[in-house]
Amino acid sequence: MDNLLENQPDKVDILDLASPPPITYAYLETTNYCNLQCSFCNRDDVIGKLKHMPIEQWIDLLERIKHYPIKEAKLMGMGEPFLHPKFDEICRIWKDYFPKSFLIVATNCQYKFQDRIERAFKYIDLVYFSIDGYKENYERDRHPAKWSKLITYLDSFKNCDRGIARVTCNYVVNPDNIKDIQTIYDEIVVPYNLEELRLNIAQCWSENESMMDSYTEDQIKYLHDNWQDNIKGKSKWDFEDCFWPKEGLYVTVEGRVLMCPLNTGAKDFGNIFYSDLNKIRNSSDFKKVQLGCENNCPTSHCKNCSYKELTPILTKLGVTG
Ligand SMILES: C[S@@+](CC[C@H](N)C(=O)[O-])C[C@H]1O[C@@H](n2cnc3c(N)ncnc32)[C@H](O)[C@@H]1O
Ligand code: SF4
Ligand code: SF4
Repeated sequence: MDNLLENQPDKVDILDLASPPPITYAYLETTNYCNLQCSFCNRDDVIGKLKHMPIEQWIDLLERIKHYPIKEAKLMGMGEPFLHPKFDEICRIWKDYFPKSFLIVATNCQYKFQDRIERAFKYIDLVYFSIDGYKENYERDRHPAKWSKLITYLDSFKNCDRGIARVTCNYVVNPDNIKDIQTIYDEIVVPYNLEELRLNIAQCWSENESMMDSYTEDQIKYLHDNWQDNIKGKSKWDFEDCFWPKEGLYVTVEGRVLMCPLNTGAKDFGNIFYSDLNKIRNSSDFKKVQLGCENNCPTSHCKNCSYKELTPILTKLGVTG
């Protein structure tokens, strides 16, 4: 892609290209504190100083994006959202600004389920309980999580008022926890009345690393034959299908604007608290990534994108779409 631009200086002036369309999808990190060090998460490699976003700054951020037609938002990032001491306020304020948006939050369930958690559920449309693996496998991959703590959390949650929230189990699949899927379904999803078991094949969220295709044929067959309908993702996906550069927004707790959650190790394109967001989205670096995707000719930013890397395995697993 970089070459494509270099070779056509007269034909492509990147700054003359159309502005990205309005943002419809936001992924916003309000804290980067976390109580776990999950084996599949690159949080340790990408976070800066620990921070909970102050409420005034949260309002400042929302003031800067309130004119966009945001339909869906995820309030999470490289941290545990509910560790933010005012996360219920964060969610309430979000819904004040975007009452019609669909709000999603993922949580690791490794803290005490208190009133303020229940209060936050009033504003969240969909909560993902991140549970991957059973007992010792869960504790291994979500170190230093404790299975007993998860059960205590779920027992308190079971009696709470779920508000508007639908609650699902989000299971990150890796070769070492495949055999636990059925147990999690039987012992967690059904008894705690969770809406769905979502299976996500573990992705790699760094620019310079690549996924290893480390599943055995037997594991692929097992997933294919038993869990095909629960596996999320798209087997028919190419860079031109990527909506992030066009309509997505990813902002870290410091205000750094990234392109997407698939490359959280990338250099930011600017800071929303110090620069106009429109300028950031119209900068030549931003547009290069956008144009690369649009032309199916990815820049270095996208070369290891897990959406693309997972397409062969998702095809093998029989995932459609
Ligand atoms: C980064 S976490 C942030 C929220 C919270 N800390 C949690 O773990 O639920 C958001 C979601 O991404 C999932 N996740 C983390 N690393 C992943 C990976 N490498 N591939 C796919 N999903 C991943 C988590 O399980 C969680 O459901
Ligand atoms: S997946 Fe969530 S809980 Fe695990 S380290 Fe990453 S942010 Fe923390
Ligand atoms: S890495 Fe590139 S292609 Fe992948 S989701 Fe991000 S912007 Fe899209």
